Amino acid sequence: MLSDTSLPVIQATLPVVGEHIEEIAKRFYKHMFEAQPDLLDGLFNRGNQADGRQQQALAGSIAAFAGMLVEKPDQVPDHLLSRVAHKHVSLGLSPDQYQIVHDHLMWAIVDVLGDAVTPEVAAAWDEVYWLMANLLINKERGLYNAVHLSPETIWRTWRVVQRIQETADVVSFVVERTDERDVKPSLPGQYVTLKMTMPDGVQQPRQYSLTKADDGQHRQFAVKRVHGLPTPDGEMSTLLHNDVQVGDEVVLSAPFGDVVLEYTDRPLVMASAGIGITPMAGMLSHLVQSGSRRQVMLLHADDSEATFPLRAQVTEDLAKLADGTLKTWFLTPAEAAEAGEATGSVFSGFMDVSDVELPDDAEYYLCGPLPFLKSVRSALIAGGVPAKDIQYEVFGPDLWLADFQ
Ligand SMILES: Cc1cc2nc3c(=O)[nH]c(=O)nc-3n(C[C@H](O)[C@H](O)[C@H](O)COP(=O)(O)OP(=O)(O)OC[C@H]3O[C@@H](n4cnc5c(N)ncnc54)[C@H](O)[C@@H]3O)c2cc1C
Ligand code: HEM
Repeated sequence: MLSDTSLPVIQATLPVVGEHIEEIAKRFYKHMFEAQPDLLDGLFNRGNQADGRQQQALAGSIAAFAGMLVEKPDQVPDHLLSRVAHKHVSLGLSPDQYQIVHDHLMWAIVDVLGDAVTPEVAAAWDEVYWLMANLLINKERGLYNAVHLSPETIWRTWRVVQRIQETADVVSFVVERTDERDVKPSLPGQYVTLKMTMPDGVQQPRQYSLTKADDGQHRQFAVKRVHGLPTPDGEMSTLLHNDVQVGDEVVLSAPFGDVVLEYTDRPLVMASAGIGITPMAGMLSHLVQSGSRRQVMLLHADDSEATFPLRAQVTEDLAKLADGTLKTWFLTPAEAAEAGEATGSVFSGFMDVSDVELPDDAEYYLCGPLPFLKSVRSALIAGGVPAKDIQYEVFGPDLWLADFQ
């Protein structure tokens, strides 16, 4: 909670900071990377920097947090903090790095707002920063401790033992441990960070959802090739598709991620689009492994049957469950798919959840591009599903978080 001294100052300056937060974030990053270029070598995702998404995510989260401190001082925005903390630990962030971000961020606030930043204003925003930073540091410490790891020990080398061409644009990688140490267990829906050296010698991290339950020796994930045009091709996905072969070694973090399956008996509805199938495949694999009796419905949208990644795997897993069903929406249904339309399991066009009868009291997991998430979530809420029963994963900085608080 904010001190009595800072509360009115934050109240008074929130609008002007909010108005300039994107500029503040932009200058903050530029200043920080000029002073510490090593942060772009192995920690920050330069793809997100290039198109501005990370700046917006950070700006949105700080503005949302300050707004909450003012409007709902007794509530902690747990969803926002959890998401950020899991992302941070999957990158091996350490507490001492918070001072670096603090110093450059405070510099940027003064640089953008100038004389408006009196010592009182600076002190109040300093307090907001450290309130949020300390909540994150504590959460991150808890996450490291829970798996008996530290920022230095989350990384481990694996050997690629299989490459599976799932669709024209998606390849699965099966990797095996290279030593006898125990493999950290993953929760259904979690991701790992993959760290690779790019052709220019710079290390880059990217997250990939695990698509199979643990077997104590392997991890499996599926990567969609990111075609650029007019922007550059995705650097990690292109490298993985073109250059990483069976026998090669890769470095992965331990699994993290806050969007995980709850262990309940309630019906489960998963809604995905495109490569958003990956966390759902991981969850289904866990459900099969644990012999779950839950009612499970997978709703998936894709361009066509041919572009639906991991289709065989999820279909087989649904068939192994006591009560698993698949409903698909294809923009261009093939003949076989059109035949399925008569049975009410295949639909044309974008996903419309009102096409199907959803189970009562279900838990919902969504994953796909933002427009898909927004439209499906809105339709579910309009249909009476409580917001607390809908969780979602976004394959990028979560620009949507601020809207939820
Ligand atoms: C929790 C989580 C789970 C994920 N799970 C999966 C998964 O299971 N499977 C999967 O395939 N992906 C997954 N992702 C996405 C994955 O982490 C990568 O973001 C994705 O593979 C693209 O990385 P890349 O290096 O190929 O692309 P990047 O090089 O990061 O490029 C990303 C985008 O930025 C654009 N860009 C790059 N440089 C510039 C520039 N200079 N100017 C303008 N635009 C530019 C590119 O054209 C591209 O559109 C997940 C992400 C998260 C956060
Ligand atoms: C109070 C301080 C901080 C806040 C509020 C904050 C906030 C955020 C947010 C909102 C995200 C995006 C999460 C997502 O949706 O995926 C993020 C990611 C990230 N943060 Fe922080 N962060 C803080 C401190 C730090 C520090 C100290 C570092 C390290 C120097 C750091 C490094 C990163 C990195 C590398 C990412 C992932 C970037 C990417 O993938 O593009 N953060 N942070």
